[in-house]
Formats: sequence, C-alpha cells, structure tokens
Amino acid sequence: MTRDEHFKKLEDLATKSIGIADLFKTEPRRMENFVLREGPLRADFSKQAISQSAKEALLSLAAACHLEEWRAKLFAGEKVNTSEDRAVLHMALRGVGGSTAVKKDVADMRDHMAAFARKIREDGKFKNIIHIGIGGSDLGPRLVADAFAANGEPSLTLRFAENIDGASVNDAISGLDPKETLAIVVSKSFGTQETKMNGDAVRNWLAETLGDKAGDHMLAVTANRTGAEAFGIPSDQIFDFWDWVGGRYSVWSAVGLSLQIAYGPESFDQFLKGAAAMDMHFRDQPLQDNLPVMMAMVGIWNRNVLGYSSLAVIPYAQRIRKLAAFLQQLEMESNGKRITRDGEEAGLTCPIIWGDEGTNGQHAFFQWLHQGTPGAPVDFVAVLNDHSARPDHHTALLANCFAQSEALMLGKSEHVVREELGDRTDADAIAPQKTFPGNRPSTTLTLDELSPFALGHLIALYEHKVFVQGVIWNVNSFDQWGVELGKVLATKILSELKTGDTGDHDPSTTALMSLFKDASS
Ligand code: F6P
Repeated sequence: MTRDEHFKKLEDLATKSIGIADLFKTEPRRMENFVLREGPLRADFSKQAISQSAKEALLSLAAACHLEEWRAKLFAGEKVNTSEDRAVLHMALRGVGGSTAVKKDVADMRDHMAAFARKIREDGKFKNIIHIGIGGSDLGPRLVADAFAANGEPSLTLRFAENIDGASVNDAISGLDPKETLAIVVSKSFGTQETKMNGDAVRNWLAETLGDKAGDHMLAVTANRTGAEAFGIPSDQIFDFWDWVGGRYSVWSAVGLSLQIAYGPESFDQFLKGAAAMDMHFRDQPLQDNLPVMMAMVGIWNRNVLGYSSLAVIPYAQRIRKLAAFLQQLEMESNGKRITRDGEEAGLTCPIIWGDEGTNGQHAFFQWLHQGTPGAPVDFVAVLNDHSARPDHHTALLANCFAQSEALMLGKSEHVVREELGDRTDADAIAPQKTFPGNRPSTTLTLDELSPFALGHLIALYEHKVFVQGVIWNVNSFDQWGVELGKVLATKILSELKTGDTGDHDPSTTALMSLFKDASS
C-alpha cells in the first residue's frame, strides 16, 4: 500500500468512528492496548478518539514510511539533517550511540563540566549565575532549572537573560553583586544578535565594578569557538559543543553548564540517564510498544485525519510550567515545514503547540477547550508525588487534572442538562449553552515523581516523537531556514533606524519606522 492509500484507509476508519467513551465499552482490552509505561513515565492514550483498528492502521502507516529504517539511520549517526549536511547525535550526549571519537569528545566535556561545576560550588566565590542565551540556548535550561528545584533549591542564584528587550538583561542583573556573579554566554552559532547584545551589556555591567577583571567572570558555551574568542572570551573559558547537536536539542550538552553549577553534577547526570533510558526504549522497542512512536502517531491522527490544527500541552505541575514554551520550539521549529525532503508540498505538518499550567489554564482557555470550535487535543502532564509538602494542594491539583480529561471526553448531553433544568421556563434557551459536546481527545502522561531522571525521560520522549512525525511528514526536522528572513530584514532595518536612512520598504513598514524615529528624536 502507498502512503496515500494508508491515509485513505485512516480517513475511512475515521468516518466509522464511534465516541471515545463508547470505545471503552467495545474494546475491553483498551487499557492494555492504549497505555504504555517506561520507567517512571506512564502514557495513557485511551482517551484518544482512536479505535484499535485505527491504531493498527497508524502503525502500518509508520512502517510504510520506513520509520524503522530512519530510526536506524538516526542512531547510526547518518547525516539525517540533509539540508545542513549534518548527523543528529544529541543522544550521544547522554551516552547512547556515536562513534568512538564522538564518545571521547562527550566524555571529556562531561568530565570538564562536572569538575568545573564542583570547583565553582566548593569555592563559594560566585553566588550568582547569569545564563545568557535564547531559543535552544535558553528554553531547555529554563525548563530544567525550574524542574530541578522540585528536589531542592539551587546552591547559587540562577538568572536568565534572553530577550533583546533591555528589560530582560536589566531584570537579570538587578540586585546582584558583580563581584559574586558569573555570566555564561551560551550560543551555538555565536552569531545571535540578542545573545551578543546581552553578553555585552552584562560585561559592561561587570566592568563598572571589576574593571579589567570583568573577563574573569565570563564564560562561553558554543559550537563556534572562533566566534566566542572574537567576542572576547579567552580560549580556556570556552566550553565546546558540536554541530551535530541541534540548538533545540542542546540542553544535554555544555549548554546545561549553569544547571550543573546551580544544582550539582549528580542531578545533571541523572537527567542524562533518564533521557538515555528513553533513547534505548525508542531505539529497541517494536513500533507497537514504543512510546514516542505511539505519541507521534496519535498526533498524526489528530492533525492529518481529524484535522485539528493545534495541540494544547497542559502540565499539572508548576515546576514544569514552561513545558509548552519549550515544546513550541522543539516541535514547531523542527516540523513547522511546508516542503518535504524531496522538495514537494508537504501538506499538513506540525500543529500549533500551546498551553499553560493547570490549574491556571482552567480559568482562562479551558472554556474554549470544552465548548469552543473545534477545540484541541490535549496532552495532560501530571506528577504523582507531591513536591510542595502540601498534600492537600497536591490532591486537589491531580483531582483537577483527572477531571478535565474526563470532562473533555464525556461532555454533558443536552438531555442531562434539560433534566437538571427541570421545568424552568428558560430551559429551551439555556440548555444548549450548558451542553458539552464531549468526545474531545486527550493523552495523560504521568511521572511517578519530578526527579531529574523522570524529567530526562519526558523531554527525550517529546524529542523522539518529533523525529517520528518528521519521518511521517517527510520533512527535515533538524533545520530551521524559516527563522532567517526576519533576521536579515531586522539587521537592515536596525541600520536604517540608526542612520536615519528610510530604505526601500512598503508603506506600512515605512510608517512604523517613522513612528519610532519621531518617538526617539
Ligand atoms: O533563530 C533560531 C535559532 O537559530 C534557534 O534554532 C536557536 O536555538 C536559537 O536561534 C539560538 O541560536 P544560538 O544558540 O546559535 O545563539
């Protein structure tokens, strides 16, 4: 069967679908067939609108798209990032795969990072770290920094400066003593405007107090050593990573140095081990038992067969509240593509990823999830163990999480609403307003606890999900040409705003530039 025929079969199955709640009645083994566990992570896909036959058809589609061959190529270190002619080896950072040379580079770097982190922690000279970076050089470390705090406060104050808005760097330095502050400039390319401006601003701030000793308080983490040196970071204060680590897959590399310093190398090691366990699960498990594969194929069903245009990710865990922001880059920068590897139109690819933490979101956008059109599939993410030392809060938190997925699935029929309304005279007007259509799909992921190991598991799960979906959509998940045009135009406009040159722009852009010039003259 061709790929198109597989999709046709899935569409036929969708037309014959029964409601999710009814699937539990017709499929007595649904909880066995739609729940997968690996280590501390359990994924319950049973509240997706997918029958057992649809699941089997989705797995056949995956096989027809040569998923197993692509997976083998990925782990063998083949250059699957074809447009940039690079291998994709972030798994090697956690000890899975890679050539002998790669393994040695990784081991040396891990030793160097751990020794450096221990020294800083023991010395006690530095009490604050400012982590300067954006995109993949920021989102992973931020998410992980918050999550690690579930198991104890950091030993050093950790601040982040990412945005080019001066408020970002102002907030990062606010109240800190330069004498006690170490700045880590993180940029794979060392060409990123935001990071270089923020790095310069922090260096100037350090120099106001430390004079020419400011340089001793600056480190760089980069795959472009020459660029970091040109920026003025001495060679022995640079931590390397490599072009085979994509920016959005880089938290496992020296990009995580600030995490190692703040939380200790042991936590970071556990984080890597958790990801490695998921790597091995993804590499070794057959498609039907494979968590990232199942998660990816559920997403394909929701996007390409049912036509949903977004996926809401709702962590019911304050400490991973930045999960949706992290996944926006991971998923949308990876698979937000319109052209296949072969240069054809790709059709529908990555949905919009969005979300916020529960229960906050319940008081904001859940109205739309329950009754809006068309709604969106949800990934609920919950942690079973309490990390807040407030068991009552934790029980209430999880009760809310479980209730929301149940409510989305079951809905509330007009019949039940009418019964509740009784003989109220406004029943005809009110009943449709109070009706919930239900049959809205969700996955619930639970972590036994929010340990670094479990967090590593969770992030690696999403990374491999993205890879699988890239294979099905036949896009290169590891380049990001779509971010370039805006950067080029911003450089041109910046120069024109500074020189007063009007340049050659459309009337709207010209008017905006005039507004700025008037406001700043
Ligand atoms: O503009 C997008 C991007 O290139 C991301 O892919 C990357 O994570 C981010 O910018 C930051 O890049 P760098 O680490 O090279 O500063």
